[in-house]
Amino acid sequence: MVWRLLTSPYSNLLQRSSGCGRHDYGGWKRVRVALRHITSFCRAGSAGILPPILARVLIDITHDDVVNEESDESQTSSQDTFAYLPIPQTTMFSRNLKKLARNPILGARRHHGQGNGGLPTHFTLNSGDKIPSVGLGVWRAGKGEVGGAVKAALNAGYRHIDGAWIYRNEEEVGKALKDSGVARDQIWLTSKLWNSFHAPEDVEATLDDSLLKLGTDYLDLYLVHWPLALKKGSKKYDKELTDNQYPTWQKLEEMVEKGKIRNIGVSNFTIPKIEALRWNPLKIDPAVNQIELNYWFPQPDMLQWSKETGILLQAYSPLGSVGRVSESLNVPVVKEIAKVLKITPAQVLISWHVQRGTVVPPKSVTPSRIEENVHLTKLPDELFRKLEDAAMSHKPERGLNPSKEWGLDFDIFA
Ligand SMILES: NC(=O)c1ccc[n+]([C@@H]2O[C@H](COP(=O)([O-])OP(=O)(O)OC[C@H]3O[C@@H](n4cnc5c(N)ncnc54)[C@H](OP(=O)(O)O)[C@@H]3O)[C@@H](O)[C@H]2O)c1
Repeated sequence: MVWRLLTSPYSNLLQRSSGCGRHDYGGWKRVRVALRHITSFCRAGSAGILPPILARVLIDITHDDVVNEESDESQTSSQDTFAYLPIPQTTMFSRNLKKLARNPILGARRHHGQGNGGLPTHFTLNSGDKIPSVGLGVWRAGKGEVGGAVKAALNAGYRHIDGAWIYRNEEEVGKALKDSGVARDQIWLTSKLWNSFHAPEDVEATLDDSLLKLGTDYLDLYLVHWPLALKKGSKKYDKELTDNQYPTWQKLEEMVEKGKIRNIGVSNFTIPKIEALRWNPLKIDPAVNQIELNYWFPQPDMLQWSKETGILLQAYSPLGSVGRVSESLNVPVVKEIAKVLKITPAQVLISWHVQRGTVVPPKSVTPSRIEENVHLTKLPDELFRKLEDAAMSHKPERGLNPSKEWGLDFDIFA
């Protein structure tokens, strides 16, 4: 029964209210707690879209299973729930419910293909698509150098490029991809929606611009670059669209339906911001969240939560970004592990990210480093733990926070 519940098309909604992970089969207890919360929510007479949806969900799921099969406490609990649920207006939502949770049983599963030094070559997204675990980051890869970097990466075996509209180098990336002769369907291409184009009516045009520049008719992944919407032609932010990302997300869902994007995700979103988005009746759950993750800022709670939620993390600035690379590569424990395993410090850090279960897009325009960065080595458990402990033992230090630079009167990560 629990299996049926957690693999039902409604599992997303239940997880959101219960906080239990897809693979947490002991989570039934928390589902029950969630039922009680929903009951009190409904008792309190709260308006909004969620109660009717959940009411329908609970009816559908519990009708045969809980009431008939579960005994004692849970039966009482479910009957108790039924007693208070407001049923009206649920029909319309129930018709759409199955569509709401695309691929409900899939989380971001790990360990697909142990072909790269014993570490996964790919991770599987909640859509079922497989994303290469290492990609080439192209932020700050300038004009005249990014094309060469992409070519070097493809030659070294990369099949994943992490770009963005705002990096202003998509045209050169696209040309390098075309010149390489590597088939489009062999390459994973990510781009990102810039802050100026969150208004639903602007999304498709900027996406088309990226597609045109990259010389492709679809993206494998499109991310909301920041949880920040700027007003048209202005550096001021649009409070309404910033506080509520759902209209932008709906437009992205439409782009998936149109075939212009295969997967959608977010970047620089905190847990509350993802939760706020996911409280809406999403047709498509975010597949990934691309955030800063490195030795200085390892974010263990976010990592744990994302695993439980089935959202794959992508570790940006994996080497500490330009300002801290050299310091990262000189961390004593990193150097020690490199020496023991006879690999380079950069390879230790990149392997560590993949071993933590995150996608890594190290940036380089230097062919020898590009080659170096794609070769992984699984760290033996005790060395992995040692590095994890070291990363956790200092005060977390975020490297990138543009809130002040952008003149915001709030912290984008608050
Ligand atoms: N979503 C977001 O908001 C966001 C924010 C930041 C980054 N990102 C993504 O994440 C990617 C990576 O992050 P990042 O560019 O900030 O930082 P990073 O990958 O941690 O560091 C890049 C720096 O490391 C150097 N480097 C790379 N490999 C090296 C090696 N093996 N040995 C020594 N130095 C090495 C590069 O130099 P050379 O290039 O000179 O070789 C470059 O200066 C970006 O390119 C972008 O795609 C996304």
